[in-house]
Amino acid sequence: MRPQLSIGMKLTAWYAACMAGALCMLGALAFFSMRHSIHSTVDEQLHDRMTAVRQSVEKSLRKGDIDVLRAELDEDSELRPQTDLLQIWDDQGKLIYQSASLKAGGLPPPANVSRADTMWIGRTPVRVLQSSIMLNQRLYYIQVAVWMEEFYEALDRFLGRLLIFAPLALLLASALGYWISRKALAPVDDITLAAQQISAHNLSARLSVPRSGDELQRLTETLNQMLRRIEEALERITRFSGDASHELRTPITVMRTRVELALRHPRTPAENHGTLEQLHTELIQASQLLDNLMLLARADSGAEQLRITPADIEDALKEVLAQVSPLAGEKGVSLHSVLPGHPVWIVADRPMLQRLFLILIDNAVKYTPASGRVSVALAVANGLTTVSVKDTGIGIADEDLPHIFDRFYRVDKARSRQPGAGLGLSIGRWIAEAHGGSVRVESRPGEGSTFEVVLPAKASPPGHGDTEKAAVEAESPN
Ligand SMILES: Nc1ncnc2c1ncn2[C@@H]1O[C@H](COP(=O)(O)OP(=O)(O)OP(=O)(O)O)[C@@H](O)[C@H]1O
Ligand SMILES: [Mg+2]
Repeated sequence: MRPQLSIGMKLTAWYAACMAGALCMLGALAFFSMRHSIHSTVDEQLHDRMTAVRQSVEKSLRKGDIDVLRAELDEDSELRPQTDLLQIWDDQGKLIYQSASLKAGGLPPPANVSRADTMWIGRTPVRVLQSSIMLNQRLYYIQVAVWMEEFYEALDRFLGRLLIFAPLALLLASALGYWISRKALAPVDDITLAAQQISAHNLSARLSVPRSGDELQRLTETLNQMLRRIEEALERITRFSGDASHELRTPITVMRTRVELALRHPRTPAENHGTLEQLHTELIQASQLLDNLMLLARADSGAEQLRITPADIEDALKEVLAQVSPLAGEKGVSLHSVLPGHPVWIVADRPMLQRLFLILIDNAVKYTPASGRVSVALAVANGLTTVSVKDTGIGIADEDLPHIFDRFYRVDKARSRQPGAGLGLSIGRWIAEAHGGSVRVESRPGEGSTFEVVLPAKASPPGHGDTEKAAVEAESPN
């Protein structure tokens, strides 16, 4: 497993590596330019000396007098007894002059090079420049040289210091780099620590935002926004499960009480039959509630998928009307419909759409008193299919209108009078939106309400395209 380094350590390591590279380059550059500058200065001196020696040699040897030359050079050499390094060779390889300072060990015989070079006399470095001169049909070689020991010692000292101070500078710079990176990243540690303190129990806590205007401020703001979204989602889930268990407890308690009462005293078969009928009704309501809760849970998790096929919406609506009609009749509410009289094809999940129509028509009948009227209309215009459900019922107050599509929301007056859990409209809206449509409502308390479902895109009837089944993943309802 690779070791996990902190960002501070990684930054420092990168910084130290770059710094080491830069120091190496700088050190090498300084060392070689210093050496080059020493060599150029020395070479310049050598060239000057060579010019002077050549003049003397030319002057003396032209006359053919080697002894005079020696005497002249010796005299000159006495002025610089230690530093005058000079040798003259003839073309037979015979040394015809050697300055006093070279007597202990001379320069090697001349090679065929004309530029200055470093050589060694024993263990001592010398910079040698050699040149040849033709006089009286004879070739002479002149070698002038300079002791380099001191220069190279100075260079070595410089290199030694470089090797000591460069690592020290690197160490210091790395420590400084680490300190700076820790300082710059300290707010990240604060954020991490604060984030670790936040759990499901204190989701309302927020990270303190540094007003630095940099990435860290943006990061904390983004984390806080994420926390707010998580808190809202958790609140929704908690409310949903609380409401769901509350709604389920009521029918279960009622059923339990009925069964306990029935068991307590001996009863006639007719009485038992009556109890069973009541239990059956309550079981139907409880299983409808469970069915609704499961649909919402599946929709939330994205597991609920629409089975889209071309569907005759007029026929689907007729079936729902036939289903609700006895209920409306029982309640004394008249049910009317205005249908086009021919099939209207749209691409939809037919059972789901029927569920949506049932929710709206059931509400309309439920919240309309006896002798009221419910009218259902289907119209197609501009490629949009509109189903409206209008009633002359109790209506909805303006302050309740924005909430009636929320889960478990019921207008209080209705809650006391009518059965239901307040899930119908939230499921209905999800179904409409999952089909790419919407549900609108207009209502006046005491006068009635109109719910309108608008669905997009008409489809061709089966056999005219659009016939393949498709599954569409739908967004979850709120
Ligand atoms: N046609 C309507 N007229 C008056 N109020 C309505 C109408 N439709 C809905 N409402 C109000 O909106 C609330 C939410 O409706 P929704 O269908 O979601 O729940 P419900 O009918 O109370 O219960 P459920 O549908 O789960 O059995 C209702 O409780 C009612 O107060
Ligand atoms: Mg309802």
